[in-house]
Amino acid sequence: MAETGTDVEKAAWLLQQGKLVAIPTETVYGLAANALNPIAVAGIFKAKNRPFFDPLIVHLHDSNQVNSYASSFPPIAQKLANAFWPGPLTLVLPKSGIIPDLVTAGQPTVGLRMPAHELTRKLLALLPFPLAAPSANPFGYVSPTTATHVNDQLGDVVDYILDGGPCKVGLESSIVGFSESGKARILRLGGLTTESIAAVAGELDESLNQNSNPSAPGQLDQHYSPGCRLLPAPENLQELISNQDAKTALLRFSGTLPGFPENQQLVLSTDGSMESAASRLFQLLRQLDEQEYNVAYIEKVPDTGLGRAINDRLRRAMARNAD
Ligand code: TXA
Ligand code: MG
Repeated sequence: MAETGTDVEKAAWLLQQGKLVAIPTETVYGLAANALNPIAVAGIFKAKNRPFFDPLIVHLHDSNQVNSYASSFPPIAQKLANAFWPGPLTLVLPKSGIIPDLVTAGQPTVGLRMPAHELTRKLLALLPFPLAAPSANPFGYVSPTTATHVNDQLGDVVDYILDGGPCKVGLESSIVGFSESGKARILRLGGLTTESIAAVAGELDESLNQNSNPSAPGQLDQHYSPGCRLLPAPENLQELISNQDAKTALLRFSGTLPGFPENQQLVLSTDGSMESAASRLFQLLRQLDEQEYNVAYIEKVPDTGLGRAINDRLRRAMARNAD
């Protein structure tokens, strides 16, 4: 069990000592350390059992700091930062010399983001350094969206959990890189829709605009996996109704499927909105394990807006069960 609370000064003091603190953001909880201290950063990799080829996102308090940590800030990146920061957007820019190679996994670029959560903004304001923070889960597992999720899995290795309540967005940030010609390209689908990014950035670099992209290292196909076996729901849902037992769950977008036991259905959206579905996704994937289902059938959600990022996470969660 890690100490959990809302003491921002305590969190700041621990981070200054090179310790690990879990922080709330609008997307998911992060496992934070001083981004400029390689020993503290190494502690993140160890705590998560994360491979060193997977770079970390650096969290800033304000966009003026970009000039200290990136060696250039192209005009389209500036437009995106003005439009969406603080918010669920990470910009991948050429790194400056101050950022340790460990943070960027040896890449010449760094992922920078300004998170929108009030407590974490207060914390960043107290610190003379930015925070490196991956999602606060063991590598390959579902990202945490509450302080309890963090405590359940990393309670023994984190020095303090800053409790900011449940995460509003519930999906990790969208990651955007830039081509040589300066066009924006989506490296990871996330909490900011591709449509809203394109509305500000103009034409996107489509050649790299895929769900799984090698230029966002660490974007492994198998990710976000709970222990329960996840299978795609069959086209004909009637098959499910005849083949289920008490250990079979159904995860769906909204409404319940008549004929399938209602208490074995996990419904993502409580109000039919994609935002509600996104904010509940990781919580429901965890619930599959908590309720000890053997198998869960997964229905895709409508593939527009945030639905694309939700389907991306569901596809990766299912990938582990494919072999
Ligand atoms: O919403 C989020 O982004 C959360 C919160 C805590 O901020 N963080 C998060 O971090 O999702 P993480 O470590 O789970 O995912 C970071 C991913 C890496 O796996 C990699 O794909 C991409 O960000 N990334 C980081 N730095 C990069 C770089 N220099 N170039 C390309 N991709 C990078
Ligand atoms: Mg992660």
